[in-house]
Amino acid sequence: MSEANSAIGSEVIDQVLEAGRLAPSAANNQPWKVTVQGAQIRIYADPEHSNSFVDIDQTMAFTSLGCFIEHLVIACRALGVVHTLSMQQWSGFADPVAILTLSSGSGARMISGSDQRLFDLVRTRCTNRLPGDGRIIDAGTMKSLSEAVASAEVGIRISTVSDPDEKARIGRILGRVDRLRMVHRQLHEQMFKDEIRWTEEDAELSNDGVDIRTVEDEVAIRSYGALRSHDAVLATPREVLEAGTPAMFSTSSHIACLSTSGAPSRERFLAAGRSVARLFLAAAGLDIGMQPWTVLPYLHVRAAHHGGIGFSREECDAILAADAEARQVFGIGPAESILLYCRLSRSRAPKVKARRRTLQCIVKREP
Ligand SMILES: Cc1cc2nc3c(=O)[nH]c(=O)nc-3n(C[C@H](O)[C@H](O)[C@H](O)COP(=O)(O)O)c2cc1C
Repeated sequence: MSEANSAIGSEVIDQVLEAGRLAPSAANNQPWKVTVQGAQIRIYADPEHSNSFVDIDQTMAFTSLGCFIEHLVIACRALGVVHTLSMQQWSGFADPVAILTLSSGSGARMISGSDQRLFDLVRTRCTNRLPGDGRIIDAGTMKSLSEAVASAEVGIRISTVSDPDEKARIGRILGRVDRLRMVHRQLHEQMFKDEIRWTEEDAELSNDGVDIRTVEDEVAIRSYGALRSHDAVLATPREVLEAGTPAMFSTSSHIACLSTSGAPSRERFLAAGRSVARLFLAAAGLDIGMQPWTVLPYLHVRAAHHGGIGFSREECDAILAADAEARQVFGIGPAESILLYCRLSRSRAPKVKARRRTLQCIVKREP
């Protein structure tokens, strides 16, 4: 440990880790764990929290890890801690994804107001799954959100649609994929059995997963309940299963898509995650509700890059077609990767907060 490192107090390291702990993650599965040795934080993907069918290549886990890493970085900047983030070659769960080294060297007091503001929002931000009022977000606010996306990672770009016909079109496309997710037995089981916490007690017990109460919209909660059994899904007409997404999108202000050039890779999804974290925080600071709507990019990785393993030919074709049509809506070419879709909306702030695992669960301290 260097002299500079030894000057970093454990309470500062804990504040940085706490910001990471509160990061958003897909299905709230918090797929991270860290070891702390002196002032060095080694960040790992947690295999027990990165094993969903949706996530064939850990692309989803890496998006969430990007959010985790960005929260750590925001905390360092806001606390005036000099830090070096070194991304690592990753070939399996034994490898760290990244190493963050803190020190109290020169420059430690250059704290930017914008990082301070984002850091303040780490505790209060949350996913907003409520219907919006459909009002367009003004150009100045949208510019701030685009800047938040770009400020985390060079090369991640946000495209948005707000025209009612375009929102309806992307809603229909993603609605087809959402239906497929319910009809596919394994995907249904993972979502309805593994991800959703149906009672407050279950949410408290695991401190992860999607607490059904965080959906907050009574209509949506009832329809999730009605589709809890796979047999009920199979008995429900296609048009009913596909209708929820366009209905929700029509209440949104904008539908956004994050993309980058090049083929999809874990590194690119991680970069997107860093932008997603900043977008979430910036949106919270501007009173804009944000809800990722993400299953298509991950299923597309399986369909296009892993031979569609686990899907029927028909399911695979449906995913490829949905991806191609969504690209048209957002003007994204075949050589680019789509990394995330999300809704941006104006609606009241949700009241129920998602839970997180404790620092003790995710941090191993090494001598
Ligand atoms: C990469 C990623 C993908 C997500 N995908 C979805 C999604 O498809 N639908 C959704 O409602 N929320 C989605 N979320 C939001 C998470 O479910 C949410 O962050 C998590 O449950 C923690 O809750 P919080 O954001 O309110 O703190 C996603 C979040 C991330 C970071």
